[in-house]
Amino acid sequence: MDSERNPAENPSGPADWMDRLQGASALCALVFAGLLMGSGIGLAMAYVPSPSEAFDSVLYLRQQGGLGAILRALHYHLASGVVVATFLMVIFGVLGTSHRQRKWEFRLMVVAMLLMIGFCFTGYVLPMDQPAYWGTSVRLGIVGTVPVVGEMQADMLRGGPTFGAATLPRFYALHVAALPIVMVLLVLVGFKDALERAARADGVRLIAACGLISIAAWVLAATVQAPLEPRAATADTEYVPRPEWYFLWLFQFGKYVHGFQWVESALLPVLGIGTLVLLPEFRISSTKRTAGVLVLLTLMFGLGSLALYEDRDLKAKPQYEAGLALKAARHYKVECSGCHGESGKGDGPDGAKLDARPKNFTRADFWDDGTLAEIVEVTTKGEAPDMPAFGGRLSAEEILAIARHVEANFRPRAATSR
Ligand code: HEC
Repeated sequence: MDSERNPAENPSGPADWMDRLQGASALCALVFAGLLMGSGIGLAMAYVPSPSEAFDSVLYLRQQGGLGAILRALHYHLASGVVVATFLMVIFGVLGTSHRQRKWEFRLMVVAMLLMIGFCFTGYVLPMDQPAYWGTSVRLGIVGTVPVVGEMQADMLRGGPTFGAATLPRFYALHVAALPIVMVLLVLVGFKDALERAARADGVRLIAACGLISIAAWVLAATVQAPLEPRAATADTEYVPRPEWYFLWLFQFGKYVHGFQWVESALLPVLGIGTLVLLPEFRISSTKRTAGVLVLLTLMFGLGSLALYEDRDLKAKPQYEAGLALKAARHYKVECSGCHGESGKGDGPDGAKLDARPKNFTRADFWDDGTLAEIVEVTTKGEAPDMPAFGGRLSAEEILAIARHVEANFRPRAATSR
């Protein structure tokens, strides 16, 4: 039981390495949490937590580009980062000896990991795009399957029996007020000793490491955009939500306990958290702990891969812009091609019966005096006698997308280049 001894006696033993790795993941988690808080404050300045405007405020950040989009990407990527970092922090704690040497610190690390999951749960809905709405609906359903208190908890989170106007403000309040207070207290009070110990041991090196981690995070945020799928369509029951990659294993597990969802929502968390909290009280050999962690990671990886495999035929989920273009193509076919023709030449079956025949979109002279703005105007308001007005049925966003579709598909190449 060499590794159970104080690591100072065996400074390069495996347990000591686990403690160092734990320190490194803790540092990453701390830096990520700081950056998340900073970028979160920035995002809160642009975000509107109302069901009707939330999506537009996020879309604005995306379309403006620049700092707003980078802050959003930073927030998005680090949200996964901080979950992974706190998870590793706990895992390395289990593998090393720190969970026995500093029992309460180890338990607070478990709390930190759960807190980060809480941030992800409440933050996921905020953009109000398709996965936000449908994913959160599924998660609330799972919360509802917790025995006895589940339904009440889900209703409290939702602000009623269904996802409605009260839901988003509640999640927002938890995400930007309640949980951050807990987090700050946890770091400043719960991890006070750990922070002091770390600062005393390698203060300057830690500052350098923080700097490097932050730079890496900013570079990632500046290069990889945060996703945004189409606006939440609460009537679109065909949308198939999927959790973040690091929760795919749990999602797959949920499939096997179908009908007994409380196994996933209550039994598994209680067993998992209970094991971690009680672990410091038992002398379990490092071999057994290592074996346990390996089994857990293998299960997670296996289930996660299986989830991806079973989703291989799932339709790809377009981002906002691509989704709008797809919808526009569908709209043109259904709403316009009857008169204007599939090929845009004005030769649709219904167009032939009209007195004033629709013009040929594929002729260069149509584009001499027809601009995108005019297409939008005519489509919105209609034109006497035969061109119907679509302003009442389609949104401004959808009409603009149809106009873009018309231009992209029918405008002759030579005329485009002006
Ligand atoms: C019931 C047949 C009909 C349908 C459906 C229809 N249009 Fe038209 N549209 C016309 C006719 C006819 C005109 C010619 C203007 C007039 O009425 O004199 C026209 C004119 C237009 C114009 C102006 C160019 C022109 O020919 O002067 C645009 C742009 C246009 N339509 C776009 C659309 C779009 C986009 C849709 C689908 C969302 C659509 N239309 C659906 C019949 C139709």
